[in-house]
Amino acid sequence: MAISGTCPNLPPLILLLLVVPLIFISSVYATCQLSFEEDNKVYTYSLTKPITNYPHGILSEDGFYKVAVNGTVLWFQLCDAMIFNHDPPTCVECGDCGGISRCGMGCSALVANTVGGYPVCTTLGYSSSTSFELIDKEDPLKGIMAKLSNRGPKLNCSLTVSIVCDTNGVQGPQTLELVGTCDYVTQIHHPSGCAVIISSHGSGMGWFGTMLIIILFFFGVYLLGGAFYRYYSLGIRGIDVIPNLEFWASLPHTLQSSFTSLVRRFRGPSHGHRSSYSPVNF
Ligand SMILES: *[C@@H]1O[C@H](CO)[C@@H](O)[C@H](O)[C@H]1NC(C)=O
Ligand SMILES: *[C@@H]1O[C@H](CO)[C@@H](O)[C@H](O)[C@H]1NC(C)=O
Repeated sequence: MAISGTCPNLPPLILLLLVVPLIFISSVYATCQLSFEEDNKVYTYSLTKPITNYPHGILSEDGFYKVAVNGTVLWFQLCDAMIFNHDPPTCVECGDCGGISRCGMGCSALVANTVGGYPVCTTLGYSSSTSFELIDKEDPLKGIMAKLSNRGPKLNCSLTVSIVCDTNGVQGPQTLELVGTCDYVTQIHHPSGCAVIISSHGSGMGWFGTMLIIILFFFGVYLLGGAFYRYYSLGIRGIDVIPNLEFWASLPHTLQSSFTSLVRRFRGPSHGHRSSYSPVNF
């Protein structure tokens, strides 16, 4: 008795237990993910997903990436804030990136320029203000760009990191360019910049599903509208409010008989009806 009572509830419960962790996992990774559909293929870039040799995905294991060009030093991390276990930035005006004691740990991109003999910090961006787009819109296989930005009171700054798809391994940043007043551009090579491509086979099914939903919708409208009309305008009560009740009641029988006649027609005269046809000889 008890078993038969609990069994019907068990499958939905199992489904719920399976689905809830899945939703949780996908929302954890959703922050650093880009996904789009093109030509019946779904391209997904999951930057923090563990991959072979890189258990933290795109995240630098040092806690930061660093590049120095022309006396300008830039530190950044992708998809997270920076961590410095060694060599923290020692520039002044680090206020919006952790302050003097934790300089670099309060943002995801920081640049130090020498001004009047002192290195002066400028915060370029935060992981929360990161946006993603393709390096080349024509070729999703090239990789993606992460743009970190910071709207300051005096200056709008940004860092654009091109993450070039490279299945052979990681190459850290080597170039640094300043475009505009405070917009920096650099590039890394990383396998996390490569798209996972799944062919979305569902387009035919999607069309069919849409048709089915539309048909069901109109059927519902017809049934409800008909019932309302019959109830209020014609004053019909009880089961008879259903429009065309006789038709629906007779439908199973109608279907059955038309199916039978169809089968009979396909089987043709060879099956017991030979006598009613006279064969024609040419
Ligand atoms: C920063 O950008 C915003 C728009 O994105 C603009 O309204 C604002 O004036 C800019 N601030 C500076 C200092 O350029
Ligand atoms: C470094 O100098 C070169 C040429 O002198 C310039 O093109 C480049 O933008 C500079 N890089 C930075 C980060 O200032």
